[in-house]
Amino acid sequence: VTVRREDYAAPAYWIDTVDLSFDLDPVKTRVLNKMRLRRNPDVPAQALRLDGEELNLARVMLNGAGCSFKLDGETLVLENLPEGNEPFELEIFTTCAPEKNTQLMGLYVSEGTFFTQCEAEGFRRITYFLDRPDVMASYAVTLRADKTKFPVLLSNGNLVEEGELSDGRHFAKWVDPHKKPCYLFALVAGSLVSRNQRITTRSGKEHLLQIYVRPGDLEKTEHAMNALIHSVIWDEARFGLPLDLERFMIVATSDFNMGAMENKGLNIFNTKYVLGSPATATDVDFSNIESVVGHEYFHNWTGNRVTCRDWFQLSLKEGLTVFRDQEFSMDMCAEPSARAVKRIEDVRVLRTAQFPEDAGPMAHAIRPDTYVEISNFYSVTIYEKGAEVIRMVQTLVGRDGFAQGLKLYFERHDGQAVTCDDFIQAMADANPTSELARQLPQFKRWYSQAGTPVVHAQAAYDAAQRSYSLTLSQSCAPTPGQIQKEPYLIPVTLGLVDATGAAIPLQLGSDSPALGSNHTLVLNETHQTFTFVNVETEPVPSILRGFSAPVVLDIELSDAQLLTLLAHDSDAFNRWEAGQRLALRLALTAVRAEGAPPAQPLSDAYLDAMRTVLRHPQLDAAFKELVLTLPSETYIAEQLDVVDPQRIHAVRETMREQLAEALHGDWEWAFDAHKNNGAYQPDATSAGRRALAGLSLTMLCLAARENGSPVWPGKALQHFKDAGNMTDRFNALLALVSSGQPLAQDALARFHALFKGDALVIDKWFALQAGAPDRGGNILPAVRQLMKHADFQMKNPNRARSVIFSYCNANPGAFHRNDAAGYVFWSERVIELDAFNPQVAARLARALDRWKKLAEPYRTAARESIARVAAKPNLSNDVREVITRSLAE
Ligand code: ARG
Ligand code: ZN
Repeated sequence: VTVRREDYAAPAYWIDTVDLSFDLDPVKTRVLNKMRLRRNPDVPAQALRLDGEELNLARVMLNGAGCSFKLDGETLVLENLPEGNEPFELEIFTTCAPEKNTQLMGLYVSEGTFFTQCEAEGFRRITYFLDRPDVMASYAVTLRADKTKFPVLLSNGNLVEEGELSDGRHFAKWVDPHKKPCYLFALVAGSLVSRNQRITTRSGKEHLLQIYVRPGDLEKTEHAMNALIHSVIWDEARFGLPLDLERFMIVATSDFNMGAMENKGLNIFNTKYVLGSPATATDVDFSNIESVVGHEYFHNWTGNRVTCRDWFQLSLKEGLTVFRDQEFSMDMCAEPSARAVKRIEDVRVLRTAQFPEDAGPMAHAIRPDTYVEISNFYSVTIYEKGAEVIRMVQTLVGRDGFAQGLKLYFERHDGQAVTCDDFIQAMADANPTSELARQLPQFKRWYSQAGTPVVHAQAAYDAAQRSYSLTLSQSCAPTPGQIQKEPYLIPVTLGLVDATGAAIPLQLGSDSPALGSNHTLVLNETHQTFTFVNVETEPVPSILRGFSAPVVLDIELSDAQLLTLLAHDSDAFNRWEAGQRLALRLALTAVRAEGAPPAQPLSDAYLDAMRTVLRHPQLDAAFKELVLTLPSETYIAEQLDVVDPQRIHAVRETMREQLAEALHGDWEWAFDAHKNNGAYQPDATSAGRRALAGLSLTMLCLAARENGSPVWPGKALQHFKDAGNMTDRFNALLALVSSGQPLAQDALARFHALFKGDALVIDKWFALQAGAPDRGGNILPAVRQLMKHADFQMKNPNRARSVIFSYCNANPGAFHRNDAAGYVFWSERVIELDAFNPQVAARLARALDRWKKLAEPYRTAARESIARVAAKPNLSNDVREVITRSLAE
């Protein structure tokens, strides 16, 4: 069934209080749900229809007496409720089977511990309820369980009572002081230990912060706790948003469909985003932990205090909260250059994952109009593009204006379930003279239209007039269900530099004020010309600085102009972008060439520029590593109308090898200059040094593959053995594996032996092998072999992803095979996963989203595999929606 945004209707009943009692048992858990409800006087009188899923209904009582009810499918319907607006009590007794819950939605068991996941629609798997975010209630929760097996009993809010029961059982009662929608409900029961931290915030209030993990994992929670403390301080300092709870808990589980969940006062996390010690987690892991801890904490205001009216508004909380976690990570950087690195990394995610989504069959606006299964819309569009839209708001109203807008948003809507319109209206009202307020309806097209706009820039310099005119035009290709697009409001931040790299002062018209060297133009028409005056020499334009809008910038810059920007642009983003454009141009030329791909796709000018960046005395290591990393195969594929993934892979590998050999001496210098920087610290500067040393080592092993010298592979193995932290160890292993060195087998075996039993590290071991560069079709057989490994577990999402997704979603050169075997493997795994975990299956189903762009024989083979999945009876809604949209014309 398709759900439509326009069909929104307020609920016919409100639920004011919920009193839940759980008798926890993995096989059969009994749930007693006592609710106080009343009719919503604003809605015509009608039956009460409560959502339920896979529940066994034992009893329903109305005001303490039996009553009539019926089941309509899985919906519990009560037709004869008292008339009038007086509250009434409903008591519903059900049971469920947590141990058999392989979907990991609702109440489930992971390694002997009970967890819940309710967002978006999992609460209905716990009890009958109005499972929608605009119904907010006060919760009291009593948990009863065996005391030895489940010594820790947690739920939202404050612990008000606990004690012993007969038969070795015990109980705990929790009361949440805040009203909440049911998707924020959580409980945890099991054998866990906690790291505890008391903090006093600016208001003088005391809070208890806790991180619960399995015994043995406690020493891996220090970084997460630091991130949590910093998050609390940051949200109060930057936005005046204090912690509103006496107790804030994070609990880690190794069985989790997504990253983490912001349940009120009781966040539940995938272990991947909590556990990290220098010996077991990489710099990337450390930085992910910081941003996910921040993300979930920031939801406490943007998501929980103010929530979504309906799930079409998901980006209201997700786009805004991703924006907030991005800003948090940037503010945690000591150096301004590290902020730019974070920005580049975020844009890279957007362009390699969100742009393809926005151009494919699953394209949707950040506020969609329809969905079949809401789980499919926890997407890079809702999250990452949503965050870019919020960032544009900040660009248009300024940093202070944004903080003012957020303040007004909470003044108006605290405690409410609202819409994206409510948010943007508060931003506009707080900034009445801004471009946002003046052109609000046009800005809102970012919410309603799908697809990535293309901004075409054309420049002309008039030496006689000393003027430089820039014509910007915009367009957006049709997306499913949206043929015609109206022009967007696009903030275009730019600067002009001269051939020496010096900034040119900006002035639009001789009577206009000087604008400095960096200015944001607002493009709001299909076609617009901006003329800069007093421009002494022909400038090089640096457009879309800081990636000021989520668009494709189509601009013809000569190699010389790009080299100028790469060498001199004061905007670090565009400096990096210039290098990417140069590499992309060379890659596309090689991919499009007739016959076999050229042996040396990179030009001397490009190689010289890369050497200059690598050896640059001022640039920092993290930035160098980004510049010297070639555009990904996925990003290259996005530029083409017809995609041959194997050819792209071959071209990019050739480019990597050429870069490795041409800069051999420079890589040697870079490795020696950046390796081993003392005791491990996860800060951005040290992480950047490790990243550059790691890339250098990979390059040196790649070159060794060509010249046959055993020196660098030997050094890599030694570095692997001697490594003092996981980042260095993993990078050394990656260097060996990704260059196809025979020594890689030895290192892989040692790595497994060393970390046997540490699930998150073993995930890396699987992922590295399934994601390795294909050489003569060797990866698919390796993947099939990995699935037979004793440590492989299909039912654990992290493990399934580490093998199957690393191959199907992240290794295009190996997945797209001439013999279609990769696609057959994919269809088998989608069907296999769908039988027990539809959410994970639906993510895998996205791997062939872009099949229509594939060259033959891939295209036909891909369609056949998709059709094979489509033909399977009893597919979940999740997979059915993805597959149907994929095959639609
Ligand atoms: N709200 C969570 C977050 O942004 C994501 C939960 C999604 N869960 C799901 N089953 N779809 O961190
Ligand atoms: Zn979120």
